[in-house]
Amino acid sequence: KPTKPQLLAQKNAEAELGGGQKRIDAQHAKGKLTARERIALLVDEGSFEEIGKFVMHRTRDFGLDKEHYLGDGVVTGYGTVEGRLVYVFAQDFTVFGGALSETHAEKICKLMDLAMQNGAPIIGLNDSGGARIQEGVLSLAGYADIFYRNTRASGVIPQLSAIMGPCAGGAVYSPAITDFIFMVEHTSYMFVTGPNVVKTVTHENVTAEELGGASTHSTKSGVTHFACENELACIQQLKKLLSYIPQNCEDEPPMLPYEPAEEGRPTLSTIIPDNPNQPYDMREVIEELVDAGSFLEVHKNFAENIVVGFARIAGRSIGVVGNQPAVLAGVLDIHASTKAARFVRFCDSFNVPLLVLEDVPGFLPGTDQEWNGIITNGAKLLYAFCEATVPRVTVITRKAYGGAYDVMNSKHIGADMNFAWPSAEIAVMGASGAAEIIFKREIAEAEDPQAKLQEKVQEYTEKFANPYRAAHRGYIDEVIMPDQTRQKLIRAFTMLENKVATLPRKKHGNIPL
Ligand code: COA
Repeated sequence: KPTKPQLLAQKNAEAELGGGQKRIDAQHAKGKLTARERIALLVDEGSFEEIGKFVMHRTRDFGLDKEHYLGDGVVTGYGTVEGRLVYVFAQDFTVFGGALSETHAEKICKLMDLAMQNGAPIIGLNDSGGARIQEGVLSLAGYADIFYRNTRASGVIPQLSAIMGPCAGGAVYSPAITDFIFMVEHTSYMFVTGPNVVKTVTHENVTAEELGGASTHSTKSGVTHFACENELACIQQLKKLLSYIPQNCEDEPPMLPYEPAEEGRPTLSTIIPDNPNQPYDMREVIEELVDAGSFLEVHKNFAENIVVGFARIAGRSIGVVGNQPAVLAGVLDIHASTKAARFVRFCDSFNVPLLVLEDVPGFLPGTDQEWNGIITNGAKLLYAFCEATVPRVTVITRKAYGGAYDVMNSKHIGADMNFAWPSAEIAVMGASGAAEIIFKREIAEAEDPQAKLQEKVQEYTEKFANPYRAAHRGYIDEVIMPDQTRQKLIRAFTMLENKVATLPRKKHGNIPL
């Protein structure tokens, strides 16, 4: 008979073995790590404290009364990442394929309640065959308990999800409500119904990877924010993201020490091509403006006509939103609008100031966009900016046309500091389109309509294709030289650091969904 300490040691060893060595080997053979190995990579060494290690399921059907694993398929606990508290749950695929039971869900809920109460991020490492089939509705109830908490926690504590294996059916909706989803290429997938059901219902032949793999969700659907090469890269990326964000909505993002240096950025003086229709890469502008190497792009391969991500400027964490003239001339379309709107709302929820870099020719025309609701979807971005109370700074590098000028963090919708480069063109539309409309009759009646059009285009360009009309009104606070921009931004964000702004009292707004 084992002594009491021996019994405890035995139980600990049993729990740590999950579904047993054979299944651990099978997990490794698939190129996947175990739940415990993943946690070890995520948290600071020796910092993890496990909660509920000996929890077991209570099911008696289908022979499960004879099959128990300590911990019941999920490792839960808390630890630190770079010294900061986080709560972590990691589903253990070696136990019933990580399938979620009533008790498995209870463990996750207990952790979420702790995270909410103590104001720290919760990180879910998902690897699960979904609802524990032998439990029926108990398992579904467990999911719902999690969804409910995800929603309550939204905007209170950061919630991050890494998908490191299957995540199918109802299981997808917990990550979907969290703030950011990371997926691992080739070993993870997410879908509401799998390839077999798809084949039966729509007669489409599609593999799990094509239907819901990391590259699909990072390019086509936008469901995932980060597609990572392997599990290690996934966890490193997740840790990097944490470094930009605060512990909860009452907290400020971490500030890194910064030594003032030469802040002039002469490269920016030549970045805008002479021809206003020539593209350039907004990422290059961002890289010049922010602290070296600090830009962490979010949703990199989705709706590439807008660029969003976290960065630092003089050590301060900021969220950057930039139109991307190198893709579709930087137009706003449905995907770009929803991508940026969600990012803006995250930053605003968690006190991350916003920098907007604007070069936008307008919204994308066409039946596809109109019929799929560019009106409602474009409105999301407008709403997100209007609602944001964090410090907000805009730099117009070139085009700021039409309604898109208003949407992209204009003065009128609450931006705090609005800068423009001398190359800025702030107008209702481009000069040639404008001239064709307002001087239609004059051009038609002219002896040489082509020459007349040129003359009118020239006239419109001189009057409006510049930042000065807007600056005369104070819609632009200052017209600045590109090479001075970084210095101006450092000062503006420092000036705005104690900004206090509140929204009218309400239950919650009704963002156009
Ligand atoms: N409930 C209970 N047990 C499950 C399960 C579930 N939802 N999903 C997987 N398992 C078990 C399997 O029975 C197997 O048990 P074993 O180790 O005792 O043999 C183990 O988990 C591993 O599953 P396996 O099918 O061998 O792994 P795989 O990598 O080949 O496939 C899945 C993984 C997730 C694709 C597959 O298991 C599956 O389709 N599961 C059901 C998914 C589902 O329909 N869920 C319910 C709706 S949300």
